[in-house]
Amino acid sequence: MLEARLLTKIYGGEGGMPPQRAVNGFHLSIHPGEWVGVMGPSGSGKTSLLRMLGTLDLPTSGELWFRGRELTALSPEERAHFRRCHLGFIFQDFRLLEALTLRENTWLPLVLAGEDPSVMQERSDAMAAALGLENGWHRYPRHASGGEKQRAAAIRAMIHRPDLVLADEPTGNLDSKASRALLSAMDTLRQEYGSAILMVTHDPVAASRCERVLFIRDGTLMTEIRRGEDRQDFLRRILTVVSAMGGERLDLEGMGLS
Ligand SMILES: Nc1ncnc2c1ncn2[C@@H]1O[C@H](COP(=O)(O)OP(=O)(O)OP(=O)(O)O)[C@@H](O)[C@H]1O
Ligand SMILES: [Mg+2]
Repeated sequence: MLEARLLTKIYGGEGGMPPQRAVNGFHLSIHPGEWVGVMGPSGSGKTSLLRMLGTLDLPTSGELWFRGRELTALSPEERAHFRRCHLGFIFQDFRLLEALTLRENTWLPLVLAGEDPSVMQERSDAMAAALGLENGWHRYPRHASGGEKQRAAAIRAMIHRPDLVLADEPTGNLDSKASRALLSAMDTLRQEYGSAILMVTHDPVAASRCERVLFIRDGTLMTEIRRGEDRQDFLRRILTVVSAMGGERLDLEGMGLS
């Protein structure tokens, strides 16, 4: 469905600044309905990769194909239209509109698609109930907690049932219960509507929900591991790679593993 070939992002290089190769010749294929995790140390290029896959940033070089269309060849307006129709984003810093309540924020993709207001309300209220967001639902972002905002951002990313959800640390602000609820909601979307998910995470437990996990370091794919039947075994293998790569804080106690 989405295919990246030799995707490269180099920042800087002007005004005497040394160029920074944030993503270095990355190849990746994402299939419909697939759940892919991305892990790697801070500064390894995860967000840069995700922003290019989502057409928010153009690569310095390389190609990006979606169902036979080369996305980097599209005009900015065409790319914006592509994103609205096919993608959903969960950003590290939520990006909610302050003038709208959390509930109203989640309607935006459907407003842009010209959807009926009753559909927006029904769909968003059902998703909020599934994520335990009744409390903060009618609050403005400035009065909501980080976890409430994170869940509203996730609903907004999924409400239009996109082909691909690109999520940057979607559980970063959530406690383990809210985190499990969000990951289950993402899984439901995936199974019911065939949406694929690409999820950047520092949390090995969250990563173990994925079908495969890519490990990235210095903008390069180091290795990729696949889940088999046994999720605990997958978690153990993820932990092994994370600790072998270093640069990652491992809170084994917090994960209930020591
Ligand atoms: N807009 C930018 N301009 C210049 N350099 C940038 C820019 N964005 C990222 N970088 C650099 O590119 C590298 C990769 O950054 P990126 O944000 O993609 O890493 P990351 O893996 O998402 O890190 P984290 O886990 O901390 O979110 C870093 O060295 C960063 O400083
Ligand atoms: Mg990042």
